[in-house]
Amino acid sequence: EQRSSIIAIDGPAGAGKSTVARRLALRLGFLYIDTGAMYRAVTWKALTLGIDPQDGERLSDLTRRMTIRLAPGYQSAFPTRVWVDGEEVTRQVREEAVSLAVSAVSSHPGVRSELVDQQRRLGKLGGVILDGRDIGTHVFPEADLKIFLTAAVAVRAQRRAEDLRAKGLPVPDRDLLEEQIRSRDEQDSSRAYAPLRKATDAIEVVTDHFSIQQTVERLLALYREKVEGDHP
Ligand code: CDP
Ligand code: CDP
Repeated sequence: EQRSSIIAIDGPAGAGKSTVARRLALRLGFLYIDTGAMYRAVTWKALTLGIDPQDGERLSDLTRRMTIRLAPGYQSAFPTRVWVDGEEVTRQVREEAVSLAVSAVSSHPGVRSELVDQQRRLGKLGGVILDGRDIGTHVFPEADLKIFLTAAVAVRAQRRAEDLRAKGLPVPDRDLLEEQIRSRDEQDSSRAYAPLRKATDAIEVVTDHFSIQQTVERLLALYREKVEGDHP
């Protein structure tokens, strides 16, 4: 049987979703769809136009009118290349101003429904890995494999600090980084529409003591066991 699979990876900020999803896609020959990059693209455009992150109506309108294109990125720091209306904004969408506003922008149902439609169109043929917050619960509840990837806040803050250092960006102190991560988790988990939640049938993978390599191998084993029916 050669059915094309859909793999959903959800979890909080900095758990390693995009890093791991990108590598897993390479290993399986799947298409990787970074849904967070889409929410970041809308947020970047809104900030550029001076639209208030609370203004759901204007944001929904903007989301419907703008064109987002994604392509594989170069490295962990930039897992996905992003274009908005033809302009490359790969670096801009990772800037702090975007990270601080993205949860507010993503809370509006009109923004989400437009991006979810696009994600379903991109993913429906299968052979895809999507990562985000609501993939297993809302975008593809019928996904063949659902992973909930997570790690302690302190570990995620440490990884973020290393990321910033590698990009040559200023590194805020540890308390501030942890606070920013907690605040984004809180906003993403508490919104009314499609909040961050572990799907009941998702497999939780805690990566505190895993390297990237180990995490990828673990997910590959889960995929083989669950989808290809390989029982070692
Ligand atoms: O910074 P990080 O890589 O963890 O986040 P991201 O995956 O780039 O997602 C940025 C933000 O987009 C999240 O904090 C959510 O507010 C929003 N998002 C969402 O609401 N639903 C998704 N499926 C993906 C991202
Ligand atoms: O997409 P998400 O926000 O969940 O995480 P990410 O953007 O992939 O960032 C995770 C960071 O932690 C990256 O810098 C990875 O190199 C690093 N990391 C990891 O993902 N997994 C480990 N087991 C160890 C480090």
